[in-house]
Amino acid sequence: MDTVPFGIDFGGSGIKGAPVDLDAGEFIGDRVRIETPQPSTPEAVAGVFAELLGRFPDSNGSVGVTVPAVVRNGVASSAANIDRAWIGTDADALFTEATGRDVHVVNDADAAGLAEVRYGAAKGRRGLVIVTTLGTGIGSAIVYDGVLVPNSELGHLEIDGQDAEKAAANSVREKQDLSWSKWAKRLTTYYRTLEKLFSPDLFVLGGGVSKHADQFVPLIDVETEIVPAQLKNRAGIVGAALWATESTDEAPR
Ligand code: BGC
Repeated sequence: MDTVPFGIDFGGSGIKGAPVDLDAGEFIGDRVRIETPQPSTPEAVAGVFAELLGRFPDSNGSVGVTVPAVVRNGVASSAANIDRAWIGTDADALFTEATGRDVHVVNDADAAGLAEVRYGAAKGRRGLVIVTTLGTGIGSAIVYDGVLVPNSELGHLEIDGQDAEKAAANSVREKQDLSWSKWAKRLTTYYRTLEKLFSPDLFVLGGGVSKHADQFVPLIDVETEIVPAQLKNRAGIVGAALWATESTDEAPR
């Protein structure tokens, strides 16, 4: 019997999930959203994952979960914008135990990067692609010839003596009520730094704000081709399901 993988996007305000058709990069049916418990400790969110999965009895495959943190072998080792209890937690083991499913956790931007490279704005692109997500923080995924180099954390580059995401994340634009052009100036500084360090072939710009891409992407003044992400709110869930499926022991490496 074919297995149907499941993707979960764990965010600060909502936990969203859906079964995923990995041939199409689409949800199978509707996505469900449950409020993120506060505080969002791994134990508290494990309960929500079990509830979420219970609503999809036909999904029987591996489960991928995005987390806004560095994740190595299922263990989170940073917590810039989430509860500190995540640090050192073996999230794969905890969630597998809580849900009875084969769960694999992945950095949120890495999941989005995988999805964009497989199905979206960077589909079929060779060379070095850097996918950035502009949200509460800045997430990054480095992909070379379709292969992800995980946990790049380029939102925390120090630029002009400051953590880059503290100057240029979308949450900063909102908090400081920056105009699109003022924000684009900050983004220009950010992407020029990435250009200098990595000489990428393509930047893909994701995060919820990418739905307003025409307001600010043309104002970012860099040499490298820069395009908005295409998967929109599907990127995390689809990328997580892909990661989980390709992380299971049976998957070819
Ligand atoms: C975290 C990253 C995450 C990014 C986007 C950063 O603050 O360090 O792990 O990918 O925010 O959520």
